[in-house]
Amino acid sequence: MRIVVAHPDAATRQQWCSEISAQLPGATAFGWQPGDSGGVADYAIGWRPGAELFAAVRGLRAFFSTGAGVDNVLGQGGLPADLPLIRLEDAGMAQQMAEYCSYEVIRLYHQRARYEQQQREHIWRELEPPARAGFGVGVMGLGVLGAAVAGTLAGFGYPVRGYSRSPRDIAGVTCFSGAAALPGFLAGCRVLILMLPLTPATTGLVDGDFLARLPRGAYLVNVARGGLVIEDDLLAALDSGRLAGATLDVFGQEPLPSGHRFWDHPRVRVTPHIAAITLVAESARQVAAKIRQLELGEPVTGLVDRSRGY
Ligand code: NAP
Ligand code: GLV
Repeated sequence: MRIVVAHPDAATRQQWCSEISAQLPGATAFGWQPGDSGGVADYAIGWRPGAELFAAVRGLRAFFSTGAGVDNVLGQGGLPADLPLIRLEDAGMAQQMAEYCSYEVIRLYHQRARYEQQQREHIWRELEPPARAGFGVGVMGLGVLGAAVAGTLAGFGYPVRGYSRSPRDIAGVTCFSGAAALPGFLAGCRVLILMLPLTPATTGLVDGDFLARLPRGAYLVNVARGGLVIEDDLLAALDSGRLAGATLDVFGQEPLPSGHRFWDHPRVRVTPHIAAITLVAESARQVAAKIRQLELGEPVTGLVDRSRGY
């Protein structure tokens, strides 16, 4: 069996090849980048593969994304319409995402930015904590990662509400679904965490009208994709103080250009797309297990519905 790894970073390509070879001893794993000759392979694994891969490599039976999101694969074009596209499911990302989001929510609830300001000013003053019952935390997208985030925050005792396309049932989480339920969901979000995939239906969803439905002084956390948000509308809501702040891990353009206003905005916290990184060894174990299932003719989970885009 031949497995091609198409990742833009050479060290990551090499790491994937080593881990997959260790998991599937009979297989030949080899790296590929644009400009390389192709040949024949049974499976491809990669990130932003580009149309050239699919023109160069023949015989593919499935493509595995090295991320949970697949916009990087679908957005590049060239993926044959009948080639199964399989994404990572958790593979160590759910815990990272739950920790990242909990950190942001707990920091806000406990007013740590104000205490840090008080420290700079040598002020010793206890602040009134917000009423917990009124501190609604919304998680938009209740899939593998969103459900883990919502469940973790509910475990801390926050009133958590979640929103998804189809109905979900998660212990301790008030679940909303469908477009008609969106205004009611947003109205109760003191903090809104975006955990949606980037698809034709979600691109640009978070615009001025959307943000205006959040309570005044709400806080946005985007750990999903930058393309969900109209950045100028977000900046306007932050400038006016309508939104208290935003923690942004993902952006329309990455790396975030050095002149972008988000970098220095007093109400914005920026991280460089690290909310949940791909753990290669754990992910390779998951991909190898699915390849073994496919070889036995068994169905696998994580198959992307191309008509929905996730
Ligand atoms: P997932 O399991 O596919 O879950 C997606 C969720 O979004 C589902 O609950 C789905 O609803 C909901 N959804 C999709 N389209 C919707 C729409 N139009 N309206 C309302 N709900 C919609 O995905 P995941 O594994 O949780 O990952 C989510 C995203 O996180 C990825 O796509 C990726 O973009 C992002 N991510 C970011 C990082 C990072 O480091 N920043 C790391 C990993 C992943 P249903 O339940 O009805 O299907
Ligand atoms: C990272 O952003 C992923 O989709 O896994």
